[in-house]
This record gives sequence, C-alpha cells and structure tokens, in this order.
Amino acid sequence: MNIQRFTDGRALSQDLARRMLAAIDRQPGLVLGLPTGRTPLPLYAALREQTPAAGTDWSAVRTFNLDEFVGLGASDRESYRAYMERELFAAVGVNPAHVGFLDGRAADPDAECGRYEEAIAAAGGIDLMILGIGANGHIGFNEPATGLHARTHRARLQPGTRAANAALFGGDISRVPEEALSMGMATILRARSVILMATGAGKAAAVDAMIRGPITTMLPASFLQLHPDVTVMVDLAASPR
Ligand code: PGA
Repeated sequence: MNIQRFTDGRALSQDLARRMLAAIDRQPGLVLGLPTGRTPLPLYAALREQTPAAGTDWSAVRTFNLDEFVGLGASDRESYRAYMERELFAAVGVNPAHVGFLDGRAADPDAECGRYEEAIAAAGGIDLMILGIGANGHIGFNEPATGLHARTHRARLQPGTRAANAALFGGDISRVPEEALSMGMATILRARSVILMATGAGKAAAVDAMIRGPITTMLPASFLQLHPDVTVMVDLAASPR
C-alpha cells in the first residue's frame, strides 16, 4: 500500500480533492465510489470549493455510495442519500440520473442489493473508490465478523458503529437504525483504484493493523492488502508507526 501523510485533515482533503478533480478532467465519465461519515466532510467541502475554480465538469461522472441505512431513503434527512445531496451532489452538479444509491426503503432489500451490483456492473465498474475506515477496521458497513459478505448485502451494525453515526440523528443512538445495506468486500475490491482516508488518533490502531496485520475478517479493511492499487492518506494523528 502507498501511504501518504499529511499534517491534518484539511491538508489531506485539499490534496485528495485536487486529485479527484484531475481524474474527472482526464476521464469525464469517471465512476466514483463514495463514503459518508465525518472523515469525508472536509473532502466534500474542498470539492465544493475547488470545483468552480478548476472548472471541472461533473455532469458525466457516475457515483455509487458505499452504503445506506435500512428504513431510510432520499426524503429522510438522516439518510446517507440526503447527506450526499447536502455535502456534494447539488453543489458540484452531479447529474441526478448518474447517482447510484442503495435504497434503504426498498420493499425487498435483497433484491435491492442485487440491483445495485448490476447497476455498478452496467456502469463498467468503479474506477476510483474513496473509503473511510471505522475505528474497528470496518469499511462500508462490513463489520468485523467470523465471515464477510462478498457482494452487496444487508448488514447489522455494531454498537460502536451506531454510536459513531449518532450525530446524524441528533446525538440519539437509539434512533440510529440497527441495519444497513452495504457494498460487500468483493464489490469494494473490484474497484480499479482505491484511496482510503483516515484522520484522528481514534483511527491509528485500525490503520496500523490494516497495513501491517494479517488479513483477517476481524479487521475487514485488512483485505485491501490484496488490492494492487491502494493509497492510504492519513493525518499525523492516524499515521501508522
Ligand atoms: P467516520 O466513519 O468517518 O465517521 O469516522 C468512517 C467509517 O465508519 O467508515
């Protein structure tokens, strides 16, 4: 893995935003995989800020987000879909028809997961996957477990993961859904190129184990060691030893 260190999350985010805009300029129909959570907020702010100055045209870009809460959809303020509209899509001009998203309100969640896999394949696969990492080593909602799912699936969230998402729900953990739909490990590993961002001391142990530890289902991010093109962007606090 290629490790890149930055003084802080802002510097990291500015650099990654420049890199993403350059990738779109080179390949206007780029297929992006995107994360939510706290870590990418400064990235999305940097993309909002840099896009007009760079003159980058997002209208042909396709996006697929990693995950969504079961029970929530585009019209729910707490959904990841609504988060992406607020933080990125509307401001940079992503064509709504090019937004791929899991529908947490789908009547048949299993069918919805299958549809998502097909939509990603129909778009030609993900060119550039941007990831965060949970303090427990999860990516997307692939939580540490004795077994992991390859494909997009329905996932049960661990208490720490629900706590990490409470801010979206007014700080009330009891309102965070217990289940989500998430890309699986193979969905993520099939991306042509992967950039994982980690900031803050709370991520240091997970980043270290991801890079140096054994590949284990108990730390899902460790499977990224199998991918030929992974860049890990960290701030000093999250930096591996
Ligand atoms: P965070 O979440 O950015 O809110 O810490 C990261 C993740 O869980 O993937």
